[in-house]
Amino acid sequence: MKEELDSILKEAQEVKNNIKSLQDLENFRIKFLGKKGLLKNILDKIVNLPLEERKELGNYFNFVKEEVEKIYKELREKLEVGRFIKFDLHHPGRKISKGHLHIITQSINKIINIFSKIGFDVELGREIVTEYENFDSLNIPPNHPARDMWSTLWIKSQKEKLLLRTHTSAHQVEILKKKNPPLKVIIPGKVYRHEATDARHEMQFHQLEGLAVGEGCNIQELKGIFSIFFEEYFGKKLEVIFRSSYFPFTEPSVEVDIECVLCKGRGCEVCKNSGYLEVAGAGMIHTFVLKEAGIDTNKYYGYAFGLGVERIIMLKYNIPDIRLFHSSDLRFIKQF
Ligand code: DAH
Repeated sequence: MKEELDSILKEAQEVKNNIKSLQDLENFRIKFLGKKGLLKNILDKIVNLPLEERKELGNYFNFVKEEVEKIYKELREKLEVGRFIKFDLHHPGRKISKGHLHIITQSINKIINIFSKIGFDVELGREIVTEYENFDSLNIPPNHPARDMWSTLWIKSQKEKLLLRTHTSAHQVEILKKKNPPLKVIIPGKVYRHEATDARHEMQFHQLEGLAVGEGCNIQELKGIFSIFFEEYFGKKLEVIFRSSYFPFTEPSVEVDIECVLCKGRGCEVCKNSGYLEVAGAGMIHTFVLKEAGIDTNKYYGYAFGLGVERIIMLKYNIPDIRLFHSSDLRFIKQF
């Protein structure tokens, strides 16, 4: 019987090279290791032998069986790897999802586009600015109570006091100095406030600053610019109203409201039943600011505005919570 076992092992080693497919392999398994296979056949004989012989042959049987199983395993691994790396050209491809610009970027691009059509150039500023740029140059000296309007994130710095800009107005004087009137500029950018977050407030959001200086600049023109802009942006004509307000860098100052885009002025939850929505701060540029930039205030007037970017996006798409913009929730992001 030992010879029989030897010849089984020998045969298994020989046929190894002829096995080319999983079907061949299955035949190999049935022949050598199957329930009615060669090895089982011998085992049936061994169990009937007297104890001593059974022990000895039993051990040898186990050795041969392990060897045959090893061959089987090796072959299976080889064939299966081969099968997986073969391409099936008929298999439908997996769809690769494409990324796209975030809704804030898309909207800023759209806003820039509208303003360029009405003659505004685009300028960009830095997110870290000096105390002078953010406050003093805008008629907000140290200890001025109006500084409380902007909860500031200060940066530890050695010489000049630095901060994360709390508004894009921080670039007004720098840009007015750089460009000669007549000028019309917008400055989109990210701004920072040290504030608790809720559905309408974030520590970080975007503003769009507008600046125009010329001999004939006046507040009616400013209102006209808003009417054109909102009509283009929301795709429908909306009433614009100016409410008297206060900013140290404009005189007079106004808060800009538009007719509620959701209820069309009838009153709803979003506009708190007032029929209007606040979307920007604006006014005629204060002579302090014009003088700071070296502009002749006997000759030139200017108007300025600061638009809340997330605010108008939320209104356009009916987004209930500003925190969704940075939530990394793909279900939200993919909608736009
Ligand atoms: N910078 C103001 C803010 O963040 C908004 C603003 C108001 C900007 C009036 C202006 C302006 O340019 O004229 O609250």
